Amino acid sequence: MLQTLEKRIKRHVIGRAHDFFAVTVPGFEAICAGELTALGLNGRTVFGGVEFSARLHEAYRANLTLRTANRILMRIHSFRAIAFRSLEKAASQFPWELFLPAGTTPKLHVTTHHCRLHHTDAIADRMAASIQERLERANPAAPSAASMLAQQVFVRGTDDRFVVSIDSSGQNLYLRGIKTHSGKAPLRETIAAAALMHAGYTGAQPFLDPMCGTGTFALEAALTAKSMPPGWFRDFAFMGWPGFRAKRWDYLRRKAAEGIQELGTHKIFASDIDPEACRQLDECIRRCTLTDAVSVVCRDFFELDPRDVTDRPGLVALNPPYGRRIGNESESRERIDATLARLRSHYAGWKFILIVPAGRERLEIGAPVQAYPFTHGGLKVSVMVGIIGSV
Ligand SMILES: C[S@@+](CC[C@H](N)C(=O)[O-])C[C@H]1O[C@@H](n2cnc3c(N)ncnc32)[C@H](O)[C@@H]1O
Repeated sequence: MLQTLEKRIKRHVIGRAHDFFAVTVPGFEAICAGELTALGLNGRTVFGGVEFSARLHEAYRANLTLRTANRILMRIHSFRAIAFRSLEKAASQFPWELFLPAGTTPKLHVTTHHCRLHHTDAIADRMAASIQERLERANPAAPSAASMLAQQVFVRGTDDRFVVSIDSSGQNLYLRGIKTHSGKAPLRETIAAAALMHAGYTGAQPFLDPMCGTGTFALEAALTAKSMPPGWFRDFAFMGWPGFRAKRWDYLRRKAAEGIQELGTHKIFASDIDPEACRQLDECIRRCTLTDAVSVVCRDFFELDPRDVTDRPGLVALNPPYGRRIGNESESRERIDATLARLRSHYAGWKFILIVPAGRERLEIGAPVQAYPFTHGGLKVSVMVGIIGSV
């Protein structure tokens, strides 16, 4: 029986390509598609993500290395249902045992649009019960999965057709497993990564994160400069799947480890006016052995002179406190204007990244600026990239 299951997993899960969907922040689909292309995977951008086809081990690698994807879903089933009976039938006839570990109780996420079955909680309950029953039938001796990696199933219904995906990532991919500290309004790692890519950051140039907060920009820059995969410090849900092959995974990690570089000199400088934020970031950098890449000091941005840390222009990245998240609208405008004035007076020739709320894209910076709009937490925001002109 076990051998038969193994054979089926090999044939239906490991031995063929599947459809995947890399979920991104709306606005960063194309940059994520570019990352997939670099992995040899051709993607098709749609709103909020990129569809691509891949074998299982390629999806492992995508999880480990994509910097701008928030989650990678594997589409495994689709069916039409207009009544709970047909939904339950379709769910219980599907071979879940090939995809999810025995004993698991997956968390269901359901959305519907123009479906006769539209009670998402009821759909989730029925699907969960059918999945659990099928898994128990397939492997009645399985222990309960309390200690296993949590599994999630996403169900999206449109016009009575339901597409079912399993989540290969687990926790959102912007959670890199690096930070244990929190801050006032931390930037998502995937947004910082996309901004760095838009600015053409390679790790060769000096990099300044002078309102670093939790250090998202600095840490993302460090991963890039060291060629360290963003998922290096974390686990993924696929590690609990029956089709997971630890040897293959170890091989992928060994290959990635060969590319990780030890940096000779600091090129990434993080600072903040808040001493506690600096202390926590410094501790995090030591714990993750990123000390070769990043140094942290407590400093007011308006007193910091980049010539104190580097003698050549590089890239400076800022997301000053703004809008609804910190302070009010006029404070936000004043802060951006003061930040721009400081950049003009002290950072001529530097490339900059500035995250601004929508409507604030016109920047007096003395040179053309490129805007990359995206949506974050319901707010419309833009990554602004340009080179600072001299005053
Ligand atoms: C929106 S948060 C930045 C979040 C950060 N990018 C992150 O991912 O955690 C703004 C940060 O700017 C810092 N800040 C505000 N005024 C500053 C100043 N004059 N000089 C340096 N840092 C300042 C705050 O302490 C806060 O940590």
